[in-house]
Amino acid sequence: MSETSKASEKPDELAAVYESAGVRRAPAAALLVEIRQLHKSFLHMGRELHVLTGINLDIGAAEIVAIVGKSGAGKSTLLHCIGTLDLPSSGSIRLAGQELTGLPSAKLADIRNRTIGFVFQFHHLLPEFSALENVMMPGLIQGRKRSEMTVLARNLLEEVGLGERETHRPGELSGGEQQRGALAGALGLKPKIILADEPTGNLDTGTSEAIHQLFFEVNRRHGTTFIVVTHNVAFARSMPRVVTMSDGKILSDERLEKKPAASEDDDENEDNPAPASAADQA
Ligand SMILES: Nc1ncnc2c1ncn2[C@@H]1O[C@H](COP(=O)(O)OP(=O)(O)OP(=O)(O)O)[C@@H](O)[C@H]1O
Ligand SMILES: [Mg+2]
Repeated sequence: MSETSKASEKPDELAAVYESAGVRRAPAAALLVEIRQLHKSFLHMGRELHVLTGINLDIGAAEIVAIVGKSGAGKSTLLHCIGTLDLPSSGSIRLAGQELTGLPSAKLADIRNRTIGFVFQFHHLLPEFSALENVMMPGLIQGRKRSEMTVLARNLLEEVGLGERETHRPGELSGGEQQRGALAGALGLKPKIILADEPTGNLDTGTSEAIHQLFFEVNRRHGTTFIVVTHNVAFARSMPRVVTMSDGKILSDERLEKKPAASEDDDENEDNPAPASAADQA
């Protein structure tokens, strides 16, 4: 598609600026998210609060990236801007080669539905529907056939280990199971990217670890890009790339040597033939 190829054709006149600012770049053809000079301010009680103060960040297709930093650093705000849930004050965000800033809200909603899955700390499962119906819902809203979505949702619930819980409503699932359900729901429309904000923030260590491994597995199997905001140091350190934010800026952007255990298997990548982990590209 011409939209996706734009990213690789774009002259890279700012490369030197990024390099001097310590911003690491993935190969141009594989870029999924390109953020340039992103600023976000909130007007609060007549005072302007400058929350993102010039973010430059590139994330390649099939990367799995942790975003860490102190409370109030701007992590969720950045995630919301990437996810088209909030509008930046200035700067540019390109997703799969398409500029998001300036698009009308209907177009943003369409891109969001087609490209992005969300897994947030306080899961967004609809309480009155079963796990199966929750996973089917985004597809049904998009006009997909019920029969098609039933099969897909069953497979996804099976994949996240919830095959036995498809008739349970969210209130009849444990916290960890709800997060698995949220991940299955986020995967329902085969998004290019999953944005997760403290996805295991309210779970015990063992359950968190199991969900973390699930993220790596989905990344490896489907080539889904993950951007995960987390306060969990062990989880962040198990990721191939860790971006640290402070006061609305990127303080460091490290690619770690260590690969996650799950990506060392040589299973085939089902949906995306591209390398499944940033460690493979680094
Ligand atoms: N709608 C808003 N109006 C005014 N200020 C806001 C708004 N949303 C966020 N902020 C402020 O912006 C700053 C960054 O918030 P953000 O939620 O991005 O932080 P965070 O890094 O995700 O923190 P945490 O780790 O605690 O979740 C905070 O100081 C917060 O108070
Ligand atoms: Mg936050």
